[in-house]
Amino acid sequence: MKVAPSVLSADFGNLQRDVEEICDAGCDFVHVDVMDGHFVPNLTIGPVVVSAIAKCATKPLDIHLMVQNNTFFVELFAPLKPEYISFHIEEEKHPHRLIQKIRSLGIKPAIVLNPHTPPESVEFLLKDLDMVLLMSVNPGFGGQSFIDSVLTKAARLNEMRNRINPNCLIEVDGGVSDKNIQSLKDVGVDVVVAGSYVFKHENRKTAINSLQI
Ligand code: DX5
Ligand code: ZN
Repeated sequence: MKVAPSVLSADFGNLQRDVEEICDAGCDFVHVDVMDGHFVPNLTIGPVVVSAIAKCATKPLDIHLMVQNNTFFVELFAPLKPEYISFHIEEEKHPHRLIQKIRSLGIKPAIVLNPHTPPESVEFLLKDLDMVLLMSVNPGFGGQSFIDSVLTKAARLNEMRNRINPNCLIEVDGGVSDKNIQSLKDVGVDVVVAGSYVFKHENRKTAINSLQI
């Protein structure tokens, strides 16, 4: 299991220290939550702060867009050369076109599904995707409780991607901890995002390692 700590739960007064700490602790990606105050009822960080994160991160960035105008934000963040940019299917009229655009910028495209969105909504996009991110909370905030139905959804998506595109990873975001990591692994999840579990833990390296099962 790969682990992408969500910087949303970091101490923004000590951002460089926190980003370096999770990278030194052996995380696999640095998860960056971009919220615009429209798609979700919260506002986070833009290119100035994300480029500061990119400068001190020694692990690849996994940028999660929770915004209304996806194309605008993809163009804004592309120069930072993240490994992945993921966008919500609920907010995109032309997902296939945006996937092609992200790939043409040299970035791996990923799609995010809210807790109510069925995995079948990405069936015809799967062969063009590098990752599907399943939300296990309603997007907008860290520290919420894990929604169990994501396990059924991940199992269905796992069957679908094994058939259509085994290279497409499954990522889960929201309420992940040592309590649910085994069930996530059992249904075929490859990457987990963890914010509060990692950053509130007394030993962040131990927390990261406990998810890398
Ligand atoms: C929620 C964000 C998550 C969040 C995860 O909208 O996408 O990445 O920071 O935080 P925890 O792990 O605390 O649920
Ligand atoms: Zn996220």
